[in-house]
Amino acid sequence: MDMSEFDKVVDRRGTGSYKWDSRQGVIPLWVADMDFPTAPCVVEALERRVRHGIFGYTLVPDSYYDALIGWFGSRHGYCIRREEVIYTSGVVPAVSAIIKALVAPGEGVIVQTPVYNCFFSSIRNNGCVIVENPLVREDIGDMEFTYRMDFAGLEELASKPENRMLLLCNPHNPAGRAWTEEELRKVKEICSRNDVIVVSDEIHCELVMPGFRYVPYGSIDPDAIVCLSPSKAFNTAGLQIANIICGDSEKRAKIDKAININEVCDVNPFGVEALMASYSPQGEAWLEGLRRYLYRNYIYTREVMTSRLSCPVATLEATYLPWVDVSSLGMTGDDIERRLLEDARVWVNSGVMYGADNYIRLNIACPRTVLEEALRRIIRSLGN
Ligand SMILES: Cc1ncc(COP(=O)(O)O)c(C=O)c1O
Repeated sequence: MDMSEFDKVVDRRGTGSYKWDSRQGVIPLWVADMDFPTAPCVVEALERRVRHGIFGYTLVPDSYYDALIGWFGSRHGYCIRREEVIYTSGVVPAVSAIIKALVAPGEGVIVQTPVYNCFFSSIRNNGCVIVENPLVREDIGDMEFTYRMDFAGLEELASKPENRMLLLCNPHNPAGRAWTEEELRKVKEICSRNDVIVVSDEIHCELVMPGFRYVPYGSIDPDAIVCLSPSKAFNTAGLQIANIICGDSEKRAKIDKAININEVCDVNPFGVEALMASYSPQGEAWLEGLRRYLYRNYIYTREVMTSRLSCPVATLEATYLPWVDVSSLGMTGDDIERRLLEDARVWVNSGVMYGADNYIRLNIACPRTVLEEALRRIIRSLGN
């Protein structure tokens, strides 16, 4: 493989990195940020802003909305109107405020498990009820599997008046699915017929693998509420910027109020600069290189996990987070996480936190040499 800008190993230890500094001496394949520097155009925009030297309260400029609307319109065919946009400090704060605004304590929010763990905490923290519609696993041969939605289950849950909202993850972390237009149309049909509000978390939308496509849920269902951020694709989670798109003015006013009550209505100047630089032609060119690199890391990881450990891997249509079935090893995800931490000095996520016992989630967004070393250690610890 040719040397690429993503092959360069940058030492993140001692930078206050949640991923690297939470525990010493381990290779972290857990929390979802990347070990690559962000796009050069983002660094340059931030440097320019830093040099100005004054970092007071931020007024989000017109050019911010232009960048967001331009990117989703031209890249994804998703038409966003400026008045629909509410900015905030992250997708988790966004989801939490949306639940607070639109679901009463004691009412249900449907999630399709296994799913991103903060969905559970956001629902619980707002006094609402987690209602699970588990995804259905489908095996593709011996060593590969995927998931589909249980539409009959969704219909049944959506028809109960106490279930007010569906929290969709599109693309889905950790199942790796980039939901198709057909699937999303069925979601819309079921939810609008049953008066269930759809909230779609699309934070992973840029990280789609070759052969698959991100379909913006908002382009199918104008009544939906969509959460977007460049932070996963451009590795800027620490800069804390995200957007809520909500076409319905009444719902939007309620969400705006909840964002204010939760005190997440102010953003910082670096998040704003980073978003504008990310959603640019230079950002897009960098992103294409990143996606190629991540795809090769996925193919390599899948080969190692299936051939060396006989662990099936879910088809990774999107995200950099392969989902691995560890049941052939006779241990739960929690057992594996513990064993790998102690024995291999590699940190992976147990599937338990996403609602599935016999799985682990890997983060492959790192230089190939780091990934190779981590997988070598995993094989040494778990292989025969
Ligand atoms: C589906 C999903 N939503 C939200 C987040 C986090 O969003 P934020 O950092 O903007 O709060 C993550 C992070 O992994 C995620 O996977």
